[in-house]
Amino acid sequence: MSRLLVVSNRLPVTVGAAQGEAIVTPSMGGLSTGLRGPFERSQGLWIGWPGDLSGLDDAGRATVMKELQALRTLPVELTADELRSYYEDFANGVLWPVFHYLLDRIPLHSGGWEMYRHVNAKFAAAVAAQYRPGDTIWVHDYQLLLLPGMLREQLPGARIGFFLHIPFPASEVFRMLPWREDVLRGMLGADLIGFHTPSYARNFASAVVRLLGHEPVVDELAVAGRKVRFRAFPMGIDTETFTAPSPPHAGEFQPRPGEHLLLGVDRLDYTKGIRRRLSAVERVLTRRPDLRGKLRMLQIAVPSRESVTAYQDYRRRVEEIVGAINGRCSSLTDSPPIHYMYRGFPQEQLISLYRAASVMLVTPTRDGMNLVAKEFAASRTDGDGVLVLSEFAGAAEEMPEALHINPFDVDGMAQAIEQAVDMAEGERRSRMAGLRARVLRFDVHRWAEDFLAALADAEIGAPLEPTP
Ligand code: ADP
Ligand code: G6P
Repeated sequence: MSRLLVVSNRLPVTVGAAQGEAIVTPSMGGLSTGLRGPFERSQGLWIGWPGDLSGLDDAGRATVMKELQALRTLPVELTADELRSYYEDFANGVLWPVFHYLLDRIPLHSGGWEMYRHVNAKFAAAVAAQYRPGDTIWVHDYQLLLLPGMLREQLPGARIGFFLHIPFPASEVFRMLPWREDVLRGMLGADLIGFHTPSYARNFASAVVRLLGHEPVVDELAVAGRKVRFRAFPMGIDTETFTAPSPPHAGEFQPRPGEHLLLGVDRLDYTKGIRRRLSAVERVLTRRPDLRGKLRMLQIAVPSRESVTAYQDYRRRVEEIVGAINGRCSSLTDSPPIHYMYRGFPQEQLISLYRAASVMLVTPTRDGMNLVAKEFAASRTDGDGVLVLSEFAGAAEEMPEALHINPFDVDGMAQAIEQAVDMAEGERRSRMAGLRARVLRFDVHRWAEDFLAALADAEIGAPLEPTP
């Protein structure tokens, strides 16, 4: 029987340790939360990194392996050196900032390329060992850009799809990468390449023309005698989860009477625009004394990539600004306006927060899609609530009824927050109806089905010339 082999750097579960015991928890981030549902419906196998297993003794290791197997996942373990160079230095130190247009974050000496190749090759060996003729391979995200090309060399007849969960930058930015041609050739090993938005697909096509000289015809490229298709497949969410009624214990969180609750939910990542967002909230509090004591911002930030220096710095700067704003805007009678929590929440609690918020603030400086925006809309079964959304999130292209903001314009963001707080109920409901209709219609199962149907149609051709 042919199977779906999903391949991503991180498995949908991560193994950690608590009081010496191994614990297996759901992984955070849009790739894992989004893809989990379609994967469960498939009879596939998910190949990826399980987290750090080095602290486990033999018995703990055996238990974890059994659990991973029961979840139909196959771990690719990484050494401390591999993790540091491939994951921290290259994937998150170089590719992540370049693809998010944050060029000042590129380190002076960007190491890690050799190890990036090496780990992609390690994933290729793990996939090839599992592969049976007829299987479909679906590779995900920027950590594994070379993998489709490597797989094509080893398995010329395989059906290979690739999906990029982050933006593909303008070719002017992409070409700053010293390894740009190798990266493109790696991606072109796939038969079908998917992006969240049409503009990312256009950026990719323009990079391929400029750097490799292949001219696309509509959404198709001829590469060394093979056809490679590329186009947008905007990712959705598992709407059933977010529209289900909250279980009674999840509804503990209630806004105070008469309060306007602003909500931010993010991985703590410097692309998410959390500091600018908090500055905008402070500006509202300064400009609108009538809202003091009535406006509360709940910012929950799930720890992410804590071993990467840029993330440690960003956390410190976020926490400084939270303290500074609370210091300036608190009074003896009112509670501090910014309520900040540095941790993950179970999904049902997250949904109860989405439901309690008056205004959801999604203000990244760049984001491939941003599923939080869609989760908020789907959760609002009451038809109320306002979404303030960055025009630099992929989701903005599909969510015209949100209040769109430019996160680099803090004053404009403050004005949008005021507009959201003051918005009449009729307008709130009509905007939310538009948002919900689209989010509910194009859910993540449809996304996966559309991608896999297009991949099933692909003609599998001759192999790519090996990369020099
Ligand atoms: P990214 O993939 O960059 O993290 P997305 O918005 O696309 O951004 O996806 C984030 C996912 O992580 C969402 O499914 C969201 O529910 C989840 N998430 C974000 N913050 C938290 C948190 N503090 N607790 C639990 N889940 C979170
Ligand atoms: C984003 C990326 C994913 C990644 C996730 C969490 O969603 O697109 O590929 O898995 O962030 O980041 P982490 O580095 O912890 O896997």
